[in-house]
Formats: sequence, structure tokens, C-alpha cells
Amino acid sequence: MTGAAGYVGGALIRRLLADPDTEVVGVDLCEMDHGAEGVREILDHPRFTFAREDVRNTEALAKLLPGTDAVVHLAAIVGDPAGRRDPDATRAINVDASLALIDAARAAGAGHLVFVSTCSNYGVSDTSTLVTEDGELNPVSLYAETKVAVETKLMQETELPWTVCRFATVYGVAPRMRFDLTVNEFTIDALNEGVLEIYGEQFWRPYVHVEDAARAVELVLATPEKSRGRVFNVGNSDENYTKRMMYELLKERLPELRAEWVKIDEDPRSYKVSFQRITDELGFRTTWTVPTGMDQILQHARAGAFPDPKAGRFRN
Ligand SMILES: NC(=O)c1ccc[n+]([C@@H]2O[C@H](COP(=O)([O-])OP(=O)(O)OC[C@H]3O[C@@H](n4cnc5c(N)ncnc54)[C@H](O)[C@@H]3O)[C@@H](O)[C@H]2O)c1
Repeated sequence: MTGAAGYVGGALIRRLLADPDTEVVGVDLCEMDHGAEGVREILDHPRFTFAREDVRNTEALAKLLPGTDAVVHLAAIVGDPAGRRDPDATRAINVDASLALIDAARAAGAGHLVFVSTCSNYGVSDTSTLVTEDGELNPVSLYAETKVAVETKLMQETELPWTVCRFATVYGVAPRMRFDLTVNEFTIDALNEGVLEIYGEQFWRPYVHVEDAARAVELVLATPEKSRGRVFNVGNSDENYTKRMMYELLKERLPELRAEWVKIDEDPRSYKVSFQRITDELGFRTTWTVPTGMDQILQHARAGAFPDPKAGRFRN
């Protein structure tokens, strides 16, 4: 698994290691502020091996591949702002290294490669209907463009079995926490500051809990006969929200909460997504909702789990 020390990686590895027959090799460069946070407590787990490597170092990755049944590729420069900061590095890591990993996995005879992509690929779409996996891709950021580029290449792949998982925006508590994702950020700011500055309250996005995102990948890996060659949106069709809806949910929990509304007419990303396919084809159902995820973050924050949520290690 690449991107092992990240937000999703930390949650997913722990789920995979719960199966006594699974061994996991995690790869991460650990050069961002969060370092090895996602894997720190499991570094000495008997069925976990960690390799601190750059995914651009294809030779190093190729040495780790022989004998692996499946590869989960999470490593990336994640999110629109992070992608904009160094466009060349973003392309090199998100596209070039991913294509080289696909080649190396094919050469090593890996049985399955799961590429984690994003519902941001849909960009702006008509929010009177739910966009499905067959909907038009309309990436409006470099980050989404890089994900679409890799997906496009994978769809032409005939030898290496693959699955694409397009995650909704993730939320919830994980070993490597992120407070630069809407639900997490709104919840911690609502609690600590009592006021939210909200841009584009009317635009829709889908959301999924980090544990449910990890469970979906686990299910994809466990059912290769159904998941190979398929693209799945990962989330729940009832879990599309606007920022105003999120504010209202937080106001129920924190009645003193205020909002400063910043009017913008155009949001580069407003879309409502259908997650019917992963339910119909794999039987996947989410276990969390945005409100229960908010309660989880509030509970952890009130227990003192995040004394410094503005610290760089919580942001990409
Ligand atoms: N978090 C979300 O809301 C979300 C939504 C949709 C899709 N995704 C996808 O899920 C995956 C994981 O995202 P995340 O939220 O865990 O992000 P994250 O930033 O926490 O994790 C990514 C990890 O990749 C590592 N990495 C970056 N460059 C590397 C390199 N050159 N070599 C080795 N490792 C490198 C980072 O150190 C980091 O630990 C990404 O592919 C992302 O695009 C995430």
C-alpha cells in the first residue's frame, strides 16, 4: 500500500491487519508535517512492514512488489490547494509515478491494483440529478486532472486487473488526522471558535467517513471477481450535503454557533453523486453519516485529543 502514513492509509492498514492471514507492506515518504503519524503505533506489528520510499523511485517499489496479491495506491499530493503549490511535483507524483507503478505491478504479476481516485473528477454537474460512474468527468483542478489521467490509462489496461475507487470527500477520526477537509474543519472550528466563515453555502458535495472509505477498499480487495475492471463511487447517495446543511447540523450541537456567509456565485465543484453501483454490485453500505461523524470529532476534541488543530501536521 502506498500513502500508508496518510489519513486514509492509517485507517485502512489497521482494518487489513485485523485479518490474521493478511500481511501489509506500507510505503510512504513521510516528508510532510505529519511524518509517519498514520503508521507510528503499528511499526512493530508482526504482519506489517514499512518502507520509507518515494513512489517516484520505481526501482525501490519494484523490489517490494514480487509476491504481493494486491496493490492499493493511495500516495499522492492530495487536494486542490496542495496540488497548486508545486504543479510539476504534483504531476510527477500523481501521474508519472502512478503510471510507473502500474507498469511495475503488471511486470511483477500482481493480481489486483486498486487506484484511489476522487469524486472531484465530476467537477461541476447538474445537481438536480445524481451523477453516476458513467457521468462525464469534468476536472476543474490540477489535482482532479491528475486523477483522471491515471484512470484513463488504467481503463486501457488489459493485463493487470484493476479497480478505481472514487472517494467522496472524507471525514472522521483517523490515526493521521486532517483538519483541512470540510466536515472535520467545520466541526473543530465550530467547537473552538464559535464562528464559521462559509464560502458558497449552496454548493453540493458528497461525504464519506474514513472508516467506511477503508471498508470499501477492503471489500473491493475481498471480492476481486466482482470488482476487477470496475469504477466505484465510494460513499452513500443520502450523504450529499451543502455547507449550509453542515452549519445547521453543527448549530443543533453547538447552539451558540454563528456563521459569516461569504457569497460566491460560482463554485468550481458542485455535484451530487450516486453511490448505487457499489451497493448493487458489491453489497457495500456505509455505517457512518456526517452527523455521527461530527459527534465523533466533537467527542475526541472534548477529550483533549486535538490540542493544536491548526498545526501543520493536520493540513496538506
Ligand atoms: N481525503 C479525502 O477527502 C479524499 C477524497 C478523495 C480521494 N482521496 C484519495 O485518497 C488517497 C489518500 O488521501 P489522504 O486523505 O489519506 O491524503 P494524505 O495526504 O493524508 O495521504 C497521502 C500520503 O501520501 C504520501 N506521499 C505523498 N507523496 C509521496 C511520495 N512522493 N512518495 C511516497 N509517499 C508520498 C504522503 O506522505 C501521505 O502520507 C489519495 O490518493 C487521495 O487522492 C482522498
